[in-house]
Amino acid sequence: VTEAIAIAHPNIALVKYWGKRDTALNLPAVPSLSMTLARWHTRTRVLWGVEVDRCTFNGAPADAETAAKVFKLLSILDADRPPVEVETANTFPSGAGLASSSSGFAALALAATAAAGRPLTPAALSVLARRGSGSACRSLYGGFVAWRMGERADGLDSHAEPIAPADHWDVRMVVATVSAARKPTGSTVGMERTRATSPYWDAWVSGSPALVTQAEAAIRDRDLPTLGAIVEASSFRMHATMHTTEPPILYWLPGSVAALQVVRELRAAGVGAWATMDAGPNVKVLCAAADAERVAAALRPVVAEVTILEPGPAASLASPVAR
Ligand code: PMV
Repeated sequence: VTEAIAIAHPNIALVKYWGKRDTALNLPAVPSLSMTLARWHTRTRVLWGVEVDRCTFNGAPADAETAAKVFKLLSILDADRPPVEVETANTFPSGAGLASSSSGFAALALAATAAAGRPLTPAALSVLARRGSGSACRSLYGGFVAWRMGERADGLDSHAEPIAPADHWDVRMVVATVSAARKPTGSTVGMERTRATSPYWDAWVSGSPALVTQAEAAIRDRDLPTLGAIVEASSFRMHATMHTTEPPILYWLPGSVAALQVVRELRAAGVGAWATMDAGPNVKVLCAAADAERVAAALRPVVAEVTILEPGPAASLASPVAR
């Protein structure tokens, strides 16, 4: 039996990935760009070559759907793999649009390749993580990260690439948790429904590359008002495609709208704060480090919980405790 442990941090898209050009390979219809978060993480331990496949999630046996996704990724890594034991746990809410799949599959890809004795290049590791969950390809890297869509049918050129390290820019993501409940519509189902039924699909796809290019320049120049406007444009455009599917997908709850209004009021009062939302009701607010406490204080009365997170590091291996 060989063992490895990996830690990976979730990332929040500043320019969103929503929609696939290939569902089997998780190839995106749009490029995207994210910030990896510090502190929150997934820790995954892989034992390669045990007697029977086993998967625990947050200390309990994983549900069948999660376990199937985990073992599928391991079989992509090695079609003749032995039975594997996977223990994975998150320090933050799972499946609630708080990017737990991004850190989860990044940690799994890294731990599994190490435990299997099959280390990959950074690009190949990002490709493997992408097969588990698209956004996971970005969590292998720290700081600011772009996911290049690629062109190849086999997807080998569709992987993340670092744009700037975590210490490039002292910004914060203030996470306003409206509800930590599991989301009603998973991202894969939501993306497919959007592609199949939203009349805004073509506009979403054709407009996204420019947002990534502009966001990269704004990050390079540390231009927060420009980046903030792009972040809100991408999020509202994505949610507009969701709201116009048949039947419509609405991840927003009253608390989400309340948090969005708080962000507008902060801006009207001269505080640089910009909101983004994913496949869930929670609102993440980008701001300068110096404004984070003020932003958090304004959000606290309208949501269940507020957490200030800074740009975080790349995924890494931890040394297994001697057994
Ligand atoms: O990687 P998935 O399948 O969990 O999809 C992520 C989708 C969004 O979080 C809504 C956007 C993104 O780019 O992370």
